Amino acid sequence: MSSTSPVKIREYDVHDFVGLTELVAEFFTFHRRLTGRGPLPPEEAATLIPQDMLQESSYVLVAEPPDGKDIVGFCRVELHEGAYFLREIGVTENWRIRGVGTALLRTAEDYIKEAGKTNLYLSVVPRNIDAIRFFVRRGYDIINTLELRTEGPDEKIQRTPLHFLGLQFRY
Ligand SMILES: CC(C)(COP(=O)(O)OP(=O)(O)OC[C@H]1O[C@@H](n2cnc3c(N)ncnc32)[C@H](O)[C@@H]1OP(=O)(O)O)[C@@H](O)C(=O)NCCC(=O)NCCS
Repeated sequence: MSSTSPVKIREYDVHDFVGLTELVAEFFTFHRRLTGRGPLPPEEAATLIPQDMLQESSYVLVAEPPDGKDIVGFCRVELHEGAYFLREIGVTENWRIRGVGTALLRTAEDYIKEAGKTNLYLSVVPRNIDAIRFFVRRGYDIINTLELRTEGPDEKIQRTPLHFLGLQFRY
């Protein structure tokens, strides 16, 4: 737990399932909106969590507020081919900018250190400038891999051109 954050960071427990479903729906809705797509309904989040997120290779942390009621943030670290990846980190909107995200990130870093690793890898959508700033200010300033893809038919957004490494990309 961060010294400035009012929340308690702890490992996910099955009793957190409903709260996690809401946070995961909010997290993916936020990301889908960045690419011009519609929301992720909570019922789809409830399917996605056991299928994709609560695997043996995953470690899920949650942020519990002082009243011990609904969790207000979560993050998931996944072990993949010997390296730890921060797959998702999300704080519910009215709890942001109060140190919760930092507390989750620092606790995830402590976890990988205990597992004998020093590097935590993460991906962030280029349009998500607030999150990029958040990570860079916390030491994540090495561009490790470029993840590229083609455009989906349901993405209704105007993309910005970007010149990098002598090539033209869009984001
Ligand atoms: C990124 C995120 C997890 C940060 O959580 P948080 O609880 O707000 O983080 P903290 O309060 O610890 O730190 C917030 C920092 O980011 C800045 N920040 C975050 N969101 C911001 C916003 N929307 N506008 C302006 N500044 C913002 C704060 O000013 C603060 O800056 P600092 O570096 O000077 O401390 C949260 O904004 C979030 O859930 N975003 C949506 C999901 C997402 O983008 N996840 C990351 C990609 S996987």
